Amino acid sequence: MIKEQRSTPEADTDIINLELQDIEGIGPTTAKKLKDAGILSVMDLAVASSDELAVDINASRESAATFIMAAQKLLRDSRIIEKEFLTADIALEKRRSMLRCSTGSQTLDELLLGGVETQAVTEFYGEFGSGKSQICHTLCVTARQPIQSGGMDTGVIYIDTEGTFRPERVEQIARARGLDHAHILKSIAVCKVYNSSHLELIIKDLGKYVNDFNAKLVIIDGIISLHRAEFAGRGTLADRQQRLNSMLHKIIRLAEIFNIAVVITNQVQSAPDTFFGDPTKAAGGNILAHSSTYRIYLRKSGENRLAKVMDSPYHPYSDTRFTINEKGADDIEEETSSKRNKKGSKATDD
Ligand SMILES: Nc1ncnc2c1ncn2[C@@H]1O[C@H](COP(=O)(O)OP(=O)(O)O)[C@@H](O)[C@H]1O
Ligand SMILES: [Mg+2]
Repeated sequence: MIKEQRSTPEADTDIINLELQDIEGIGPTTAKKLKDAGILSVMDLAVASSDELAVDINASRESAATFIMAAQKLLRDSRIIEKEFLTADIALEKRRSMLRCSTGSQTLDELLLGGVETQAVTEFYGEFGSGKSQICHTLCVTARQPIQSGGMDTGVIYIDTEGTFRPERVEQIARARGLDHAHILKSIAVCKVYNSSHLELIIKDLGKYVNDFNAKLVIIDGIISLHRAEFAGRGTLADRQQRLNSMLHKIIRLAEIFNIAVVITNQVQSAPDTFFGDPTKAAGGNILAHSSTYRIYLRKSGENRLAKVMDSPYHPYSDTRFTINEKGADDIEEETSSKRNKKGSKATDD
């Protein structure tokens, strides 16, 4: 089941057959300690953080790090994750065969060069009402679609920190698109999260949920909302950033090792100095900026929405317009038809 998730067709070892004890340097005693700490598989160990593992199994940070690296080495040797060094042509070939999930809007997909990507964290940030949760709802519908229709033929894990997930909206989007809503609703595992510790705990065990639900897309709507609300005073800022940091690093490792697409949403920070301009600053500071692979800024633009690529290792800085309607995130009609006439036309900001 897990093997299907890999983009590397040559992955020849069944992950299910890999046991903790197959890892170099791990004997029955350590394996038991790991299992008692909730680390049940080689993949779980490979995505663990050395600081947390050291505490969980009562070992030094160095030995925890050694175990994690040995687990990653076993996954590499078994061709479950990529080798440490690849030639760039093979890297390119692998990137081309990567799964991408449509956002529901073709122009938004084009902006993302094909949709939301696996092995990456895509962050949508913007003000309240800018369309972040609507994109998340639409992704729940598109992800279930066959790969040739822009989907990933997969289940979705939806982590809702703001209490804004609405199954009715998913149903509406599916119906408006003429899709099997019952089947789609069954393949979304929703978790409503109540506080920052709960969120951290869910993320700690995310690998297990990804396998259980056979999900290739994980959505975390409101990645820092809870941390932001709970750590309000300045005195606790360092603590908050440190906890966010370890959570976000775990998310990136999960995306890479489990070969899943992760979508997170974030708020904008109100910056008084940009009162008359556009407060394009995402909340969370540098920690978040460094942990998202792609960052997309969303804002209202008249009746429609504007999306801008703010930070990406390979997307050009560009923007596009889309709309939100009963189909979820969707193309603006006039724009798609004028685009057909004049290919490559740029979106204009109004
Ligand atoms: N069924 C719908 N049809 C059309 N537009 C909708 C629908 N549901 C929500 N919207 C639009 O989406 C907006 C909310 O966007 P949302 O993604 O929830 O914001 P946020 O960025 O805060 O998550 C609403 O203000 C409305 O304009
Ligand atoms: Mg929202």
